[in-house]
Amino acid sequence: MKIGLLNGGGDCPGLNAVTHGVVGAATQLGWEVIGFKEGFEGLLSPGSFKVLKNEKTEGILRMGGTILGTTNRGHFSGKVGEGGVRKIPKELMEEAFTTLRNLDVEALICVGGDGTLTTALQFDEEGFPVVGVPKTIDNDLAATAMTFGFDSATQTVVDALDRLQTTADSHKRVMVLEVMGRHAGWIALYGGMGGGASSILIPEIPFSYEKVAEALAKREANGFRSGLVVVAEGACPVGEDLLYKDTSTGGEHRLGGIGIEVTKRLAELTGKETRCTTLGHLQRGGSPTSLDRILATRFGVKAVKLIEEQRFGRMVSYQQYHVGSVPIEDAVRQLNLVDPDGEIVQAAKSVGISFGD
Ligand code: F6P
Repeated sequence: MKIGLLNGGGDCPGLNAVTHGVVGAATQLGWEVIGFKEGFEGLLSPGSFKVLKNEKTEGILRMGGTILGTTNRGHFSGKVGEGGVRKIPKELMEEAFTTLRNLDVEALICVGGDGTLTTALQFDEEGFPVVGVPKTIDNDLAATAMTFGFDSATQTVVDALDRLQTTADSHKRVMVLEVMGRHAGWIALYGGMGGGASSILIPEIPFSYEKVAEALAKREANGFRSGLVVVAEGACPVGEDLLYKDTSTGGEHRLGGIGIEVTKRLAELTGKETRCTTLGHLQRGGSPTSLDRILATRFGVKAVKLIEEQRFGRMVSYQQYHVGSVPIEDAVRQLNLVDPDGEIVQAAKSVGISFGD
C-alpha cells in the first residue's frame, strides 16, 4: 500500500517527529510513504514529493521545522479572514485527486491545525480517504486535550521570561512580552504561569489597563522591584477592537501589535520604565521538547493505525493520557479556548497573577 503525508498551516516543533512516527509504523506494515512538499500545494505540481524511507527519517524527530515544507497561505487555505471557512474549488480538488491517483496513493495523512483539517475534511467528503493529525502551537483545536508543538512554544515563552526577569529586576522595570496563540490564550497562560509573570492578558478575558497598572503598583508596594506582563496577540482591552498586523494576505488575518499598546499605556499609568518584547516566530522554531517528540511520534503511529483499520475522516486525538481518534468535523467546528472561570485561571489568580479583569 502507498500512503501520502503532508503538513499544512504554520510549522511547529514536532512535525518531523510525526513524519518519523508515520514512516516507522508504515514501514513495519510494508507500506510506502510519499511525502508531499509545501502542504496541499505539493498536490498541484508534478514531482513535488519525496519517497520517505525509514533510514532517511530515523534522526529527524529531534529537528525543528519540517523536512516536507508547509504553507499557511495558497490555493488550499481552508480558513480565510477572521476564521471564515473557504470551500475549495472543485477543479483544484480534481487536480489534487489526479496527482494522488497517478502515484497510486490510497490514503492521505494531513497534519495541521484548524485550516488544514478543514481542507482535509473537504477531501474526505469528496471521496478521498483522509486521516488528520492535530498540530498547532496555539493548542486551540477542540476534541484533543493537547496538540504537539504547544509544549515547545510554551517552553520558549518560559525561557524568555526567565531572561526578561533578571534585566527587569536590575532596572526596576516592567517588561511586556507579546506571545502568539491567535484567538486562544493557552500559550500566554501556560508560558506566563511557568515563567512567573505578574500579569497575563488573554483573549478570553477582556482586560482593563487600569487594573493591570493597579496590580503592578500593588507589587511595588509589596517590595517587588519589577513586573512581567505576558500579553497574548489576541488579547483585547474591554470595549476595544483586536489589533492586526496584516489583513491583506490570502489566509487568516495576522494578529499583532497589542504588546506595544500595553507597554505605552502601562508606562503612562504606572510612571515606570516599561519595555516591550514581541517573541514572534521564535515560538515556532527550534527543536521540540521531549513531551512534543513523544506525543508527535504517537500521533504519527496512530494515523497509520487508523488507515490500517480503514477509519477515514477521523483525526488523531489525545484524551486522558490516551491517543485515540474523533471525527475530523468534531475538531474543526469550534475552538478550544481557555475557560475564564476554570481551575487553571483560578490557580493563577490564587498566586497573585492579575488578568486585568
Ligand atoms: O497558528 C500558529 C501561529 O503561529 C499563530 O500563533 C500566529 O498568529 C500565526 O500562526 C502566525 O502566522 P504567520 O507565520 O503566517 O505569521
